[in-house]
Amino acid sequence: MIQHLLRVSHVSKHFGGNVAVHDVSFAVDEKQIVGLIGPNGAGKTTLFNCITGFFPVTSGEVIFDIKKINDLRPDEVCRLGMARTWQRVKPLGSLSVLENVMVGAFSVTNKARQAEEIAIEQLKSMGLTDYASKSAGSLPIGLKKKLELARVLATHPKLLLLDEICGGLNHTETDAILDIIRTIRQRGATIVFIEHDMKAVTSICDRIVVLNSGEKLAEGTPEEITNNPDVIAAYLGGGHHA
Ligand SMILES: Nc1ncnc2c1ncn2[C@@H]1O[C@H](COP(=O)(O)OP(=O)(O)OP(=O)(O)O)[C@@H](O)[C@H]1O
Ligand SMILES: [Mg+2]
Repeated sequence: MIQHLLRVSHVSKHFGGNVAVHDVSFAVDEKQIVGLIGPNGAGKTTLFNCITGFFPVTSGEVIFDIKKINDLRPDEVCRLGMARTWQRVKPLGSLSVLENVMVGAFSVTNKARQAEEIAIEQLKSMGLTDYASKSAGSLPIGLKKKLELARVLATHPKLLLLDEICGGLNHTETDAILDIIRTIRQRGATIVFIEHDMKAVTSICDRIVVLNSGEKLAEGTPEEITNNPDVIAAYLGGGHHA
């Protein structure tokens, strides 16, 4: 049997009578970038919350690195090597930029000196060194998104889940983030990438999973997905915004 790094198997998530995710299955292999797309309310963020232990699944299984993880807490999932960014970035505003990244690093070390070294290195690779001592809350959105990336990369994840990391950014800022993701990919990262900007998704993803009204509508290469009539119909009918 092929060993996937992440396997989402028949996952459903209900909120009362609202079926946010219904019977979704897909797998992610090491060093792949998988796009997760779909109209607003399709269930993308909910699926991330189920994968990372923030929500219990209603049914189904999440397997990470051969281990069933859907009964674990978010911090336990993180320690196994999975990190996620938030659609609405929420740095610890009263802490400095450096300290925010150190919080990530503390999931791989309990030594402050070492956490600081890891954080300094991540800030450098994001071009954030000059902001290290600034309060995180004071950063503009473009830099907050880079800080979010630095924080999760400081956990040295095997799998990175990015929830609209380019959302709310202008073209220049988006291109800067995409360049960073390409660099991370060259280092062998495995990523699930939620994004509305199809140009960004198709330029960076090996495969794409499409959700619509909580269900998996399609899965395939960027070319297969952009030519899929069901996908086109879901997007044209959906009136979607970032
Ligand atoms: N904590 C919650 N409690 C109740 N319902 C929720 C909760 N979180 C999400 N939902 C519902 O689940 C459905 C899917 O929402 P979700 O945020 O996962 O969509 P999404 O694909 O991430 O959308 P967007 O592109 O706008 O971010 C929606 O109907 C939403 O109202
Ligand atoms: Mg979302």
